[in-house]
Amino acid sequence: MNQQEQRIAELRKILNEQNYNYYVLNDPLISDYEFDRLLNELKELEARYPEYYDENSPTARVGSDLQHEFEQVEHTYPMLSLGNTYSQDELRDFGNRLQKELEGQSVRYDCELKFDGTAISLVYRDGRLVRAVTRGDGMRGDDVTANVRTVKSVPLVLLGNDYPAFFEMRGEIYMPHASFKRLNAEREEIGESLFANPRNAAAGTLKQQNPQVVAHRGLECFVYGLYGDRLPFESHYDALQKAREWGFRVSDAMKRVSSLDEVFRYIAYWDTHRAALPYDTDGVVVKIDDYRQQRQIGFTAKAPRWAVAYKFKAERALTRLESVDYQVGRTGAITPVANLEPVKLAGTVVRRASLHNAEQIALLDIRIGDMVYVEKGGEIIPKITGVDHSRRDLFVRPLEYITRCPACGTLLIREEGEAKHYCPNATHCPPQILGRIIHFISRKAMNIDGLGEETVELLYNNGIIKDIADLYTLKKEDLVPLERLGNRSAQRILDSIEKSLKVPFPRVLFAIGIRYVGETTAKKIAAAVRDIERLRSATEEELLQIDEVGGKIAGSILKFFQDETNIQIIERLKNAGVSFEMQENVSQSERLSGKNIVISGVFTEHSREEYKMIVEQNGGKIVSSVSSKTTFILAGENMGPSKREKAEKLGIPLVNEREFLAMLS
Ligand code: IVH
Repeated sequence: MNQQEQRIAELRKILNEQNYNYYVLNDPLISDYEFDRLLNELKELEARYPEYYDENSPTARVGSDLQHEFEQVEHTYPMLSLGNTYSQDELRDFGNRLQKELEGQSVRYDCELKFDGTAISLVYRDGRLVRAVTRGDGMRGDDVTANVRTVKSVPLVLLGNDYPAFFEMRGEIYMPHASFKRLNAEREEIGESLFANPRNAAAGTLKQQNPQVVAHRGLECFVYGLYGDRLPFESHYDALQKAREWGFRVSDAMKRVSSLDEVFRYIAYWDTHRAALPYDTDGVVVKIDDYRQQRQIGFTAKAPRWAVAYKFKAERALTRLESVDYQVGRTGAITPVANLEPVKLAGTVVRRASLHNAEQIALLDIRIGDMVYVEKGGEIIPKITGVDHSRRDLFVRPLEYITRCPACGTLLIREEGEAKHYCPNATHCPPQILGRIIHFISRKAMNIDGLGEETVELLYNNGIIKDIADLYTLKKEDLVPLERLGNRSAQRILDSIEKSLKVPFPRVLFAIGIRYVGETTAKKIAAAVRDIERLRSATEEELLQIDEVGGKIAGSILKFFQDETNIQIIERLKNAGVSFEMQENVSQSERLSGKNIVISGVFTEHSREEYKMIVEQNGGKIVSSVSSKTTFILAGENMGPSKREKAEKLGIPLVNEREFLAMLS
């Protein structure tokens, strides 16, 4: 092995171990910075020495190759389903039946959470992941290996050396609540339809064509079953404990018990404690632990007879549907919202619930006056899940979905493949304009603080601003007479509007609210076109050349610039001094060389990411925690109290962003 090959192998080993510490043990041993540095070193070496390519290198996690369609592959062991029950009596029957069949043998059960995601089969040969396949029809599934490689809790190369040469691991790919919330917030921001729940989001993500998108979505994996010929284990529990040592993520909630009463205690515990988990579970899976006993009990055509899922009942309440409102979003999407007779559900009083779209209303055949079931899933907004048709008054008429926009009266449209109706009057429909202004001033866009949603509404409803460009001609006299707004707040608003002129072009591009153009896409587009004029005149082919821009986004950009109102707004923003071209990069220098810098808090002039880049371009090093080796802390607002305390104790100076930028200029 030559020197480069040796270093590549060494880096792969370190990074694999660190991935395991981070994603499986939740106990990272090195800083994110250090991790990224090693990963970058590996990426560079791999680029320079392609002869040492390895599809299971930790660098493969970032998602590289594009799959256009999924290949179907046959499962070595069919992926069966699981019998389920909502009744504790049935569960007891299940236990007693098995007990009887096993004739006096002592029986141990494994209790596991039932993770609410999508099933996956992971095939390993010689300790390396070779294939990941969805359940499909149970006999054959889709080969989604490239996507699964990006899921950090799935080991690509196993640890240790006592694993079977060939085996299959079964598990659940799921989306944690935090990723789900972030994903839907991002989608809402750019006018994409939302995922109904984390399960759909996980399944949808796994079928994405672009592994890079998958990598960004934050999927995770728990494994719950080992399959192979002549496995060296006597029980399911032992097998999973070993799997954990090989690098698989096995839930700490798994428990081996020796009586049905303990199974019931486990269920009772998780029925309440699951609310605090960072992901959805819809039940508990109970399995016979001993492999020999499992074989003795056997299978039905569809499912093992040695396991059963006990499902938790979702808390639901029955109440009357009083009326339906229709909300118009920033992109013109119409969302029907149910007004309910107030009812108590899971500790809160529910008055409103989402109805999603016309299709759902038709599907459930919901009518005004009906008694409806409301449920709270993992999400915060309750939803209507059913109707008690037996309690319907005789002559209620079906609910007629609106055909015109409730705000501006324009005829609604419904595009092919879209579940929602849209108001196409983008430029003159008031809630759409208001929504765009609110998006424009938001923190990730122009960050005009001081000007909250309510003030914007007030300004808009009083005819003081009609679009985003009007913000830049606001005067103090416009603001002071407004309700509850004093001289000082008015000045603060004007100052932050003024400050927004410094917001860099990528964020401006995001702020102007082109449908489907999110934060990251805006960055890619800005870097490619450099200024708004080039974007405006770009053809579809040119747009499609840009990273992350597909047909849908390109079409939306073209449509945006076909609208004269948008062109005029951009002209006026430009005249006001809003930045519509890329600034040349902050100069590169060695001014920060040898300095270890911690970044903490929230900034206004540049984003945290931009500051990281600036530090690095000027020779400095970012460190994640404060120590005696830290040179200074670049401190924004709301800096973490523990960092501040530590800095004070060690006498590390705090530098604010103004001082920091002055240091470099
Ligand atoms: S064991 C032979 N254990 O539930 C089937 N399944 O309804 C063995 N699931 O398709 C499955 N958590 O995707 C098992 N701890 C767990 C599980 C689990 C979630 C899913 C799995 C399966 C479905 C069955």
